[in-house]
Amino acid sequence: MAELGTDIDKAADLLRNDEIVAIPTETVYGLAGNGLKSDTIEKIYMVKNRPASNPLILHIASINYLDGLVTEIPETAIKLAEKFWPGALTLVLPKNDKVPDIATAGLKTVAVRVPAHELTLRLLSMLDFPLAAPSANLSNRVSPTTAEHVNFQIGKSIQYILDGGQCSKGIESTIVGFVDEIPIILRHGALSIDKIKQVVGKVLTKKDHTTIVAPGMSPKHYSPKTLLIACDNIQLTIAGLKGLHIAVLTLCPDSHKELDENIFKVSLTSKGDLSEAAYNLYEKLFLIDKMNFDCIVVEYVPDVGIGISINDRLRRASN
Ligand code: TXA
Ligand code: MG
Repeated sequence: MAELGTDIDKAADLLRNDEIVAIPTETVYGLAGNGLKSDTIEKIYMVKNRPASNPLILHIASINYLDGLVTEIPETAIKLAEKFWPGALTLVLPKNDKVPDIATAGLKTVAVRVPAHELTLRLLSMLDFPLAAPSANLSNRVSPTTAEHVNFQIGKSIQYILDGGQCSKGIESTIVGFVDEIPIILRHGALSIDKIKQVVGKVLTKKDHTTIVAPGMSPKHYSPKTLLIACDNIQLTIAGLKGLHIAVLTLCPDSHKELDENIFKVSLTSKGDLSEAAYNLYEKLFLIDKMNFDCIVVEYVPDVGIGISINDRLRRASN
């Protein structure tokens, strides 16, 4: 298994030697390597078993490093970066020649963000290259929000996990591209669309622009090993699953008192707060996934704010 620790000098040395290291961010843990070296990036794809068609995000220490990776930055992108970086916002912009094609899966654009995690920001400021880092899970599995999750999934394939505790946001960053300077949400995430609208006004979604390139957004993703069914009505869904050993994941602990008391129930929050639900989502899925149920039944949360991103993950985990 990998070593867990908080030694950023050690992490920096490994990274300078073209090794890959798991790093904490505020969203989920990333599997990081030198984002300007094709061979190192190839290792990341191999460890994750990730299809070569799914591009990576480059992580930088501050907005000052953005210019060195892209050819063009719309005014709206600058406004968003100034407001939300460091934070759970990834910008997709036209790449320059320094960025290897393998990082972007051959696309002419590159995804970039400044993560809001103190350890990783210090690490990035010690390096003279950006860190390419997809979520540190095996492809299509649940993203890790603790160093232990990372160790469980890919600990055999890496040397070191920089342990930054449990990720404060708990789901991935929001990915934003641009169509004629207008932001378009390519992946809903930890930064809500409402907050983005407050800064730039008009924001598009993929529904407004069906030809937009959004690789890696396959309908199936983020799944635990156990069959997961996301639904609007837990009682009805369970009625159709007689004889199965079921775990139920609800938003609040006091909801669904009507359920058979033999059914294993876990809740995402104490009172229904959606940020708390995002924080706990992958952690609870990890926990239940280890318990060998036949099926996990999860209820969709209210489709507002960060709830939109949670429901996106639930939909794709249950596809
Ligand atoms: O919060 C996060 O974003 C985490 C942490 C580690 O930063 N990272 C993460 O990476 O979720 P990953 O690889 O699991 O998801 C990145 C997604 C890809 O699936 C792809 O859809 C999108 O970013 N992406 C990357 N480059 C892109 C590009 N040039 N155009 C459109 N989408 C892109
Ligand atoms: Mg991922």
